Amino acid sequence: MGNRVSVSLSSLQSYGDVPSVIDHCRATLPPARGPVSEWVSSTLSRPPGRCFAVPEAEDDPFLGDDSALALYLLYELHYRGIAGVDDEWEWAPQLLAARAEIERRVLDRLRDAVPQQDEVDDVVGKLQALIDDDQGPGLSRFCEHDATWEQMREVCMHRSAWQLKEADPHTWALPRLGGRPKAALAEIQRGEYGNGVERDVHQHLYALTLALMGLDTRYGFYLPQLPGVTLATVNLASLFGLHRSWLPAMVGHLAAFEMSSVAPMAAYSAALRRLEAPQDACHFFDVHVVADAHHERVAAEDLVGGLIGQQPASAPMILWGAEVLMWSEREFATHVLTAWRDGQSSLLRAAAPEHMEIPEAALV
Ligand SMILES: [Fe+2]
Ligand SMILES: [Fe+2]
Repeated sequence: MGNRVSVSLSSLQSYGDVPSVIDHCRATLPPARGPVSEWVSSTLSRPPGRCFAVPEAEDDPFLGDDSALALYLLYELHYRGIAGVDDEWEWAPQLLAARAEIERRVLDRLRDAVPQQDEVDDVVGKLQALIDDDQGPGLSRFCEHDATWEQMREVCMHRSAWQLKEADPHTWALPRLGGRPKAALAEIQRGEYGNGVERDVHQHLYALTLALMGLDTRYGFYLPQLPGVTLATVNLASLFGLHRSWLPAMVGHLAAFEMSSVAPMAAYSAALRRLEAPQDACHFFDVHVVADAHHERVAAEDLVGGLIGQQPASAPMILWGAEVLMWSEREFATHVLTAWRDGQSSLLRAAAPEHMEIPEAALV
């Protein structure tokens, strides 16, 4: 069993504090939610080797609670790994083949939801129009004016799936790019990783926000409570990032991500101020208002513009990646707002563990 370390509440209290080794621990396998996540859990609980064929999904292959969790766990093998799961599973051929089957279902679903255009000109202009014309459900606007403290905590729990690994999925694209778009992505990522200063890594600033809202800062802690529609937003970036064939979609995803960030980030910061959260809890959002005003220009002009200059034929896929991002974010926001309108939590009922013991060997 090995040595175990007891976990206590986060020590993050103010800007400048950095997460501890405990915060960087691996996620543990959450309870399964259906046949596909059950198949993943039972497979990963065994020593690496052969695995059974992946079962048919009984829910939406992209947004469903079961299917999205299954893919999220398979992708997590490429990030920090999962506590108690042998790292050799990451490149086990049969598991990769099974993941490819799950990804095929996801891509069919995405193409169905957001058809890709055959030809696209003026991609940067179309990306800007996509952002400007977005008639999303307005989750950040609702939060700015109306959300309760508990609802803001819910939003922050949802977003922990993305923000505690923020920028990592996009980093997969770096070695796949060359020249101007590579330099542009490096410039964006430099900011995401705190310009080399540990306390300013955006993932760390988000952990501080969680701590000051009385939430748990550990990576993957809220996984059991996150619905498929939340995990799907992360899976989308992992899907595009891990496949070189989807590099233009990744670039479009990142560009739209940066170009649509400033107003929502300002709204979330305003929401926390309205609710009298500690100033340092707002810092993560305030930083993005400034940083993403820069990132959106670099992403549009040099990342997208640079890739188009090198590969004009990539234009339709760049736009598609952006459109899929916007669609998945609308699905997420609609889910949250619908649950709240019905007087319910937008999280799954599964309770996060109050106390978690982590094998020392799982620490990274
Ligand atoms: Fe960021
Ligand atoms: Fe950014």
